[in-house]
Amino acid sequence: MVNIAVLGCGRIGAMHAANVAAHPRTNLEMVFDVNEMAVTNVSNAHQVQAARSAQEVFASDRVQAVLVATATPTHADYIEMAIAAGKPVLCEKPIDLNLERVNRCAEVVSKSTVPIQLGFNRRYDPGHAAAREACLAGKIGDLHQVIITARDPALPPRAYLEEAGGLFRDMTIHDFDLARFMLNEEPVEVFALANALIDPVLGRELGEVDSAMIILRTASGKQCHINNSRTAVYGYDQRVELMGSSGMLISDNRKPHELKHYGAFGVETAEPYQLFFLERYEEAFMASIDGFVNCIENGATPLAGFEDGRRALILAEAAYLSMAEKRIVQVSEIG
Ligand SMILES: NC(=O)c1ccc[n+]([C@@H]2O[C@H](COP(=O)([O-])OP(=O)(O)OC[C@H]3O[C@@H](n4cnc5c(N)ncnc54)[C@H](O)[C@@H]3O)[C@@H](O)[C@H]2O)c1
Repeated sequence: MVNIAVLGCGRIGAMHAANVAAHPRTNLEMVFDVNEMAVTNVSNAHQVQAARSAQEVFASDRVQAVLVATATPTHADYIEMAIAAGKPVLCEKPIDLNLERVNRCAEVVSKSTVPIQLGFNRRYDPGHAAAREACLAGKIGDLHQVIITARDPALPPRAYLEEAGGLFRDMTIHDFDLARFMLNEEPVEVFALANALIDPVLGRELGEVDSAMIILRTASGKQCHINNSRTAVYGYDQRVELMGSSGMLISDNRKPHELKHYGAFGVETAEPYQLFFLERYEEAFMASIDGFVNCIENGATPLAGFEDGRRALILAEAAYLSMAEKRIVQVSEIG
């Protein structure tokens, strides 16, 4: 059993705490959040200690590893504190919204052997993982194209958008990571088009976009198309398509169940897709805990590590530059 402390007891932290408590190889040792109500709710739910400070968590001999699910601006500091305390860390994405801060953190990371796993949960999705494995096993011949569709069910509240750091750093960051994971090669060129089509007024006020299409190309010429929307009224739309010289693979959407209705006005009428990430990636989040334990106990390399988080952010910055300058950007242009 690995004793894990969860920092951050908000939307995703509460889920991670429940997963750590339920996982057969981990024990939820303590939780911490600067919001007293949030930490009390989660500590009561699992009958575990609520730490009074992050320092208390990192100083505790009983805590063997930490899971950071706090607000994004705290991630780099907590990664550095975990390294200083010698505690393996699973940190939610993104590492930070600022590439310079991430690069400074990378220097600390490079001098340490403490395992760091990034919260790119989609790599652990059974369908996405099977698609990648089949592709690597040559089932579709040579991979030519990757199409990633990622559409959220509804525009988040204004307060969330004000803090999120922009579509590409907050949301598309998952897709940039998935693109690298599926292509198995670094993208070298990025072209991005994006607009505020769902709420143009809010978009203008915040300087934010809600709908995007992004094209990536690798050095060998493999292509990837990412398409994002912050509002898919039919549910959380998450698909990955891999096109190769001898076939195609699709990791498809999921519905809550497979019931289909047949009537006079329609056939095969089904439920909307699973609501959002907590439902759609439930297994993936739990599998990411398996992966973390494997890193801690067996010295495995994290499936998604710090450098993956840094590279995904570089692609986000390249996409912003492409959008601003209306041109194809070389990834090497980003510092
Ligand atoms: N992997 C995914 O699919 C996924 C999905 C959602 C969110 N996230 C990421 O998870 C993180 C949290 O997102 P959320 O939606 O749970 O947000 P949230 O606002 O619901 O929760 C964040 C929590 O962090 C706490 N917090 C803020 N500063 C803190 C500090 N210094 N120390 C301790 N606690 C602190 C807040 O009080 C809050 O309870 C974000 O970085 C977000 O990008 C990832």
